[in-house]
Amino acid sequence: MRRIHPLPDLLISQIAAGEVVERPASVLKELVENSLDAGAGRIDVALEEGGVRLMRVSDDGGGIEPEDLPLALARHATSKIGSLEELERVSSYGFRGEALASIASVARVTLTSRTTSTSHGSRINNTGGEIAPAASAVGTVVEVADLYFNTPARRKFLKSEATEFGHCDDAFLRMALANPGVAFSLSHNGCVKRRYVAGDLERRIRDVLGGEFFAHGRALDVVAGPLRLYGFVALPAYSKASRDEQYCYVNGRFVRDKLLAHALREAYTDVLHGARHPAYALFVELDPGGVDVNVHPAKTEVRFRDSRSVHQFVFHAVQRSLAAPLGAAQDTAASPSATEVSAWDTAAYAYPARQATLGVQEQPVASYLDFAQRAFDSSGTPLTTQASGRDAPVLGYAVAQIHGIYVLAQNAAGLVIVDMHAAHERILYERIKQQLEAGPPSCQSLLVPLLINVGNSEMAAVTEHAETLRRLGFEIAPAGPQELAVRAVPTLLSRGDLPALVRALLSDLKEFPASRVIEARRNELLATLACHGAVRANRSLSLPEMNALLRDMEATERADQCNHGRPTWVQLSIGELDKLFMRGQ
Ligand SMILES: Nc1ncnc2c1ncn2[C@@H]1O[C@H](COP(=O)(O)OP(=O)(O)O)[C@@H](O)[C@H]1O
Ligand SMILES: [Mg+2]
Repeated sequence: MRRIHPLPDLLISQIAAGEVVERPASVLKELVENSLDAGAGRIDVALEEGGVRLMRVSDDGGGIEPEDLPLALARHATSKIGSLEELERVSSYGFRGEALASIASVARVTLTSRTTSTSHGSRINNTGGEIAPAASAVGTVVEVADLYFNTPARRKFLKSEATEFGHCDDAFLRMALANPGVAFSLSHNGCVKRRYVAGDLERRIRDVLGGEFFAHGRALDVVAGPLRLYGFVALPAYSKASRDEQYCYVNGRFVRDKLLAHALREAYTDVLHGARHPAYALFVELDPGGVDVNVHPAKTEVRFRDSRSVHQFVFHAVQRSLAAPLGAAQDTAASPSATEVSAWDTAAYAYPARQATLGVQEQPVASYLDFAQRAFDSSGTPLTTQASGRDAPVLGYAVAQIHGIYVLAQNAAGLVIVDMHAAHERILYERIKQQLEAGPPSCQSLLVPLLINVGNSEMAAVTEHAETLRRLGFEIAPAGPQELAVRAVPTLLSRGDLPALVRALLSDLKEFPASRVIEARRNELLATLACHGAVRANRSLSLPEMNALLRDMEATERADQCNHGRPTWVQLSIGELDKLFMRGQ
């Protein structure tokens, strides 16, 4: 055993470097965050060979005083905090004062900087250490060359150039998304890969995540006491096979937080089934004192003081946004205010036809419901056929049904096309769910019991799940060795294809153990029921039936998507129709 001795400074930094700068992308993150902390309005990043050979970050921020340059490279030296109080309320990205020192311990670093108080720039590098005059605009250029040249073990862990560049690109995108007011560019081996102009969040989201995300996005901005959540959630029709498009920020910092991830997953459970992942770019803001960012050197983890409230708040805000019933007329540009979930203005992406999304606004919803009561007789037949004007229903009035699949309706904006089955399925799902929450659903006895032939496992499922079936509103009993008698079904579903419905239900049930199936698997069961209870293709509907469907859609939460995340209706505006015929061009 050797005696205890203090470690040399360089070695301490190299140890720290293991956590802070584990690969080129983490170096890039630290450098760009420093530029953002310095108040930069534009940040240009140039990489060579995946960032390993060279990484240059130039900004037009406040710069560093010449005599402070050696300190910038020193360990535990920072301009960002000076006390524990400041640490607890920190709002800058950096505060530990160890990133540049760590980077300088594993690479060749050159800092060139100029503040407004000097007429020329100054330069320092970590090899010579002398401060020298240099030509420079106000701002800072940090160059990091030959990353890990002196730590071969670390170098061995690097992946291919393309992979390391990919990670750098990801890190770059995350920071660009959160800072729409800053212009960014990224080049690799001399080719420009990304270029974003300064603008607002909408613009940046569209530039970074693309028009498709944008077209399926719903804006939200919700404030509750000290918490604010804003950003964009993609409707389930835009779900992804991976988690790639999940961007979540706390006070501007990209985080991977289990609590937030869980709240978001929960918020999507009703509208997104199976192995799909939602896409979103969301920003949580709260008092810096309410969140601890000093959990890990890389700072992608945070700790909330009141984690339960944050979870509840995020869950409800997102769920509500996704569930927003059809309320406001979509072409009255709803201006997002801090307390409302607002409609996304999709006007800019007018073609091809695509589902518009309508936001929740208390006022229009109330006035619509009032209108609906006045405008229809009890069978759903409109008393007036005015399809325009302020009070017209959002989805308008049915004019026809085609191919037994689609309902066409005329509304103020133009033509609405509804997938009849998908829409009805969604409505049924929400209704059954509501009914179940309120108690046992109303059921309808069948005049003549429905007899169906089944196999042994279905017979067993009926006995085993007797209680569940009863609670769902079914009365099913064995009528012979291979035969079941269905005596009652939930009223809501009584018009569906009953034999198919019962078979699907039993085949779902036999997959699960009886205990607690209705709690744990309820939504899946309901989805099965709704699917088979809904009107099938090729059922012809009368106009009053079609209108009743449209009114039901308007009154139903989450009616925009069916249970599988597909849209239930699309809008073709008069403008889009005109375009098809090249009118007015
Ligand atoms: N791009 C930059 N513009 C202005 N100052 C910078 C820049 N990069 C680094 N600095 C200065 O160098 C100091 C050390 O940076 P760093 O090691 O990343 O620590 P931290 O960001 O935690 O303070 C910062 O506190 C800041 O004063
Ligand atoms: Mg820093």
